[in-house]
Amino acid sequence: MPSAGDQPTSVVYTDRWIRYYDFVVLTLSTRLVWGCPEPRLVDLYKRNLGPRHLDVGVGTGKMLDTAARSAGRAGLDELHLLDINADPLKLTGQRLRRFSPITYQADALGTWPLEDNTLSSVCASLVLHTLPDDGRGFAAKASFFDQAARVLVPGGRFFGSTIVSDAPFARRNPLARVLMSVYNRREIFTNSRDSSKDLRAELEARFTNVRVRVRGCTAIWEADAR
Ligand SMILES: C[S@@+](CC[C@H](N)C(=O)[O-])C[C@H]1O[C@@H](n2cnc3c(N)ncnc32)[C@H](O)[C@@H]1O
Repeated sequence: MPSAGDQPTSVVYTDRWIRYYDFVVLTLSTRLVWGCPEPRLVDLYKRNLGPRHLDVGVGTGKMLDTAARSAGRAGLDELHLLDINADPLKLTGQRLRRFSPITYQADALGTWPLEDNTLSSVCASLVLHTLPDDGRGFAAKASFFDQAARVLVPGGRFFGSTIVSDAPFARRNPLARVLMSVYNRREIFTNSRDSSKDLRAELEARFTNVRVRVRGCTAIWEADAR
């Protein structure tokens, strides 16, 4: 199983770089490069955040924090945060400390250290495109979907967003094409084979009421656990 330090993203998601994340990625890149502005991604959280929530691949926790504020203290009872890297977990844990989050430093492609059928929502926001795929696209990320299905209660909500490459559904502007190619070469992204069609197939194999939309080259999904 890969651990933090084995993978290229571990160099990016450190205290040194992550301080720029909110502005560079969430404010600028979501809008100008990936075609799905931050407020849309926050709305996704607001629509789906449940009282017992797990966030996987937490980054800085900014959008989760914004959505949790609008849900109010009663809207979120139990918060779990899982990430392979220590610094995002620390930062997000501090940002959301009012919920006394439980943190797990673990690989999202391994077995999540959480009980079966316990959570009301799981979110993977802007994470799947960073996970390694052995050249197989979403099929190599299947265990992620298995784990989300396992930990959710029936009817619980799985939601998230990921950057995809499939034409004609994903519209990549010239900047998106260049950055995606550079990030894939440096293995900061592994999404050159990720398509919204395959994403839908992985979701439909495990969940009901699957909704997938593509804005720019960002696929957004919402689905219910069986
Ligand atoms: C692009 S950030 C997304 C942050 C946040 N969810 C957001 O929407 O702004 C990707 C996050 O996934 C984490 N990550 C990358 N690979 C991972 C893995 N194999 N297992 C768990 N977390 C991982 C990184 O440490 C980072 O916090």
